[in-house]
Amino acid sequence: MQTAEKILVIGSSGQIGTELVQNLRDIYGIDAVIASDVKVTEQAKEGPFEVIDVMDAQGLLTIVKRHKITQVYLLAALLSATAEKMPKFAWDLNMQGLFNVLDLAKEKIIRQVYWPSSIAVFGPNTPKVNTPQFTVMEPSTVYGISKQAGERWCEYYFKKFGVDVRSLRYPGLIGWKSAPGGGTTDYAVHIFHEALKSGSYECFLSGNTVLPMMYMPDAIKATIGIMQADAEKVKIRSSYNLSGFSFSPEDIAGEIRKYIPGFKISYAPDSRQQIADSWPQSIDSQEAQKDWGWQPEFDLAGMTADMIKNLKK
Ligand code: SER
Repeated sequence: MQTAEKILVIGSSGQIGTELVQNLRDIYGIDAVIASDVKVTEQAKEGPFEVIDVMDAQGLLTIVKRHKITQVYLLAALLSATAEKMPKFAWDLNMQGLFNVLDLAKEKIIRQVYWPSSIAVFGPNTPKVNTPQFTVMEPSTVYGISKQAGERWCEYYFKKFGVDVRSLRYPGLIGWKSAPGGGTTDYAVHIFHEALKSGSYECFLSGNTVLPMMYMPDAIKATIGIMQADAEKVKIRSSYNLSGFSFSPEDIAGEIRKYIPGFKISYAPDSRQQIADSWPQSIDSQEAQKDWGWQPEFDLAGMTADMIKNLKK
């Protein structure tokens, strides 16, 4: 059954896409996974690659038909910090892209859709600790508003049209294979590069800002896990809370010092502080655990050890 899938990853050269494409190709084979981004990237050398602007429904349809695509992972989006700088474009891209893909499934041209949501769906009135699946949301960022609206539309397409769409609310994602692009949690990746390069880092969030985070291998495991789960197990069709571990810049600096004893961190909070302050500190993911068996492997110590080992290479 697995080999019959033909998978399109849209936004494949980004932080998640880079690793997701590699993992999907390990499972389904190189030619079963079409990478695509809005421009040609280095990824085009590794296997099938198409240039797709997800806003162009007709262009998307042509490529989906050409490759007889069965599943789409839609990763193209503007993240929280960038979206605040271009609110209208962020809304248009994040929403129109989603509609264009959901409509392919509604028309039965594709069978399954993956679309990422985020902890950004939560807002200042949300309980901050162990944030439940179902709670007050009221996001206060453009990115969060687009993700919450998107969640509502995913559930609507599932209920109304039977679209098999699956989604996770990612926390901040940390990996060594690719750079993050325009998020509020990006510091947790930059800090490793700067620690190894110069032994110091100026953080754009304050030292005690606790946010939920996850190491990329866990995020990829969750993503492929929910897509491969039996349909009846995926009970929530808006988006699942997903938990890894939580830490502050001070915490991670302390962990890094176990490997780089002289590492120095300083703080110069910018506009991203306000975004971070509106988000939860930790996430309750018991629905994901119960419904399709979510279990993270990495904690702060395990992630830090693995990041430093790989970035040193
Ligand atoms: N990592 C994302 C961001 O900071 C959250 O989804 O925007």
